[in-house]
Amino acid sequence: MEAAIITGAADGIGLATARLFAARGWRVALLDVRAEAVEAHAAALGVEHLGVRCDVACEADVLAAIEAVAARFGRIDALVNNAGIGTPHIPTLEQGLEGFEQALRVHLSGTFLMSREAGRAMLAQGGGAIVNLSSIAGVTGLPRRNAYGAAKAGVISMTRSMACEWAGKGVRVNAVAPGFTATSLVQKLERDGSIDIKRLRGRIPMGRLARPEEIAETIVFLCLPAASYVTGAVLSVDGGWAAFGDAGLAQEAGV
Ligand SMILES: NC(=O)c1ccc[n+]([C@@H]2O[C@H](COP(=O)([O-])OP(=O)(O)OC[C@H]3O[C@@H](n4cnc5c(N)ncnc54)[C@H](O)[C@@H]3O)[C@@H](O)[C@H]2O)c1
Repeated sequence: MEAAIITGAADGIGLATARLFAARGWRVALLDVRAEAVEAHAAALGVEHLGVRCDVACEADVLAAIEAVAARFGRIDALVNNAGIGTPHIPTLEQGLEGFEQALRVHLSGTFLMSREAGRAMLAQGGGAIVNLSSIAGVTGLPRRNAYGAAKAGVISMTRSMACEWAGKGVRVNAVAPGFTATSLVQKLERDGSIDIKRLRGRIPMGRLARPEEIAETIVFLCLPAASYVTGAVLSVDGGWAAFGDAGLAQEAGV
């Protein structure tokens, strides 16, 4: 039975992805800083699944988590680097270094550490697939989101770099770039006044936020043999956000 690791699996896109892999017959290791939540979700999915406390930005946590998963499953066929934080939107002139570096630590260092260790196991077993969570913030310019945007653009660069490095050894590495998705991360940004969801909908050609399950479908696809010739790609799952380049609201520009 194939085995997948999903980071940030206590909630949102990560949890939806873990559920989808499990429904497709994979064993799933759900990793998160929220230990109780991932243990409960893993137990709810079935005894073959595993919940592991892991801060992806902490090297010791990552090494211990990969060891625990390898000991339990004996293989790692897919890694989804999904753990993330929705940093408050702050004007650049008011951005503190600590907040900036925190965004880089979780998204960039976390993706690097998890990929390095899971990649080691995948190369040794002769194949695997890694999917990294980027964002529309990584492919377009979002004001007041310099740390988050830099981290998500860095994730794309790392995706391409690792994809080329490991392509000849059967390890594929891709990124998805979601648009605004209805998760607690986005609810929190709305609560702290960083975003206005009603206004955002007008900027989305499809006129609505994504459901976490829609992002999960794309992530799982990229891990399956159906995507066997796809590596180094960045797949937008954004309701048309990145495609839209006209003046004004996307909703007003459509038919
Ligand atoms: N929701 C969106 O609109 C959206 C859009 C584009 C990209 N993304 C990206 O998708 C990913 C998932 O986002 P979401 O909306 O599901 O968020 P979410 O807040 O619902 O879930 C994120 C999970 O990551 C966990 N986490 C945070 N820091 C961690 C760390 N250091 N180590 C381990 N786990 C950690 C949290 O505890 C949480 O369970 C993130 O990388 C996010 O940047 C989200």
